[in-house]
Amino acid sequence: MRIYLIGYMGSGKSTVGKGLAHALNLQFIDLDTYIEERNLKTIPEIFASEGEDGFRKAERKALHEVSEFENIVIATGGGAPCFFDNMDHIKKTGTSLYLEGSPRILAERLMNSKTERPLIKGKTEEELIAFIDETLAKRNNWYKRADVTMVFDHDISTNEVIDALKGFI
Ligand code: S3P
Repeated sequence: MRIYLIGYMGSGKSTVGKGLAHALNLQFIDLDTYIEERNLKTIPEIFASEGEDGFRKAERKALHEVSEFENIVIATGGGAPCFFDNMDHIKKTGTSLYLEGSPRILAERLMNSKTERPLIKGKTEEELIAFIDETLAKRNNWYKRADVTMVFDHDISTNEVIDALKGFI
């Protein structure tokens, strides 16, 4: 079994993924952490030294590597499904779940997050909402191809996720 969590930055993919993996007795991998370990650099360092293009190449390579692992829940980075043929690869190799939140909710969560994210660094909440509005509209072309979409306006419980995935896992 292989389950991919996809969705915008701040949608809770890692938190939900960890809970799901625990409940289903599966391994958990966060794709960003995997990229950092494989490249011996943090995500902001990769963006700084190789630019977004370099990061996207490393991300694609990492996705292909983790897609060989079995019995696993994979939390992808927010952009992962939206570059190259990554979403095709996700669809081919597992079940995908999109955590869909509104720009306002995502912005609120991101403003409170300690994780450094190069694409949104230094933005005010208003700038962030505008940025999310614009990029999410484009990214939804990929996100909406997920097998299952969960719209959230609160923290999602593991039971809700398992219910949503019924028929797929
Ligand atoms: C990105 C999301 C980040 C990380 C990188 C780029 C994006 O992951 O991969 O900063 O393009 O949306 P999270 O979704 O875990 O924040």
